[in-house]
Amino acid sequence: MTDLYAVMGNPIQHSKSPQIHTQFAAQTSQDMLYRAMLVPLAGFENAVHDFFKVGANSEVGKGLNITVPFKEQAFEVADTLTIRAQTAQAVNTLILQEDGSILGDNTDGAGLVGDLVANHKVPLQGRRILVIGAGGAVRGILQPFLHEQPESITVVNRTFKKAQALADNFSEFGNISACEFAQLNAPFDVIINGTSASLSGELPPIPSSVIAAHTVVYDMMYGQELTPFLQWSQKNGAAKVLDGLGMLVGQAAVSFELWRNAQPDSQAVLLKMRQQLNL
Ligand code: ATR
Repeated sequence: MTDLYAVMGNPIQHSKSPQIHTQFAAQTSQDMLYRAMLVPLAGFENAVHDFFKVGANSEVGKGLNITVPFKEQAFEVADTLTIRAQTAQAVNTLILQEDGSILGDNTDGAGLVGDLVANHKVPLQGRRILVIGAGGAVRGILQPFLHEQPESITVVNRTFKKAQALADNFSEFGNISACEFAQLNAPFDVIINGTSASLSGELPPIPSSVIAAHTVVYDMMYGQELTPFLQWSQKNGAAKVLDGLGMLVGQAAVSFELWRNAQPDSQAVLLKMRQQLNL
């Protein structure tokens, strides 16, 4: 029997997860397969249960990655949840447990923290961090970020109420507050863009005073060119601008470790992907 893993989403054809996990498996000599599975919009729960059913075939479903638009449904399907999945209220990793139950985790935040701290040598401890956006992507990273014990996290969002709700929700994990764009007037050490503004080529309405010569700026998105936000940050003198490809590979690495108890070389895979994608 070969252990089977997959990423479920809709659409799924552009997913890079099969490529990433297949390289991880080769690096660490794991006997496993990883597929992309297109799941009908109304069929997620059945697809998950079918995947984990022990059948007569030669493959046995052991773990899943979950992507758009099913991360909230995966949160509901899981029998138990890690703390970071509970706080994210979304699940990107399902793990079949020995007793047949399904554990839900969210490795997005750990992937981003790992990319910053391990790959780019940007420590978060004691730093002043600005997080832009208050949607699902930001909810997924706040607990792992606060776990690194930054001096403070400030959440700013177009709709202030949503930033305030997140700050209230996460205050038990560390020093976090909300503010309006117009209130920003001092530099931060690290700035994370977690809005979807880059998708439409837009910039969040942010003053250049948030950037100092030592500021590191990260956009969770990536593409052929620097996102408008990273271009703007570079123009305003940021020390480093980083795109979200490392977060993608990083979240995959954390999922892989959870499933296989083996540590892949995510830097090597990231490098190869940058060459292939010409990024
Ligand atoms: P995701 O799950 O990717 O986080 P989401 O939950 O729809 O998606 O959240 C999108 C985030 O991007 C929100 O914080 C949104 O701000 P609002 O809460 O005010 O809607 C933010 N966003 C999207 N487009 C933006 C833009 N052009 N400028 C600033 N913020 C933007």
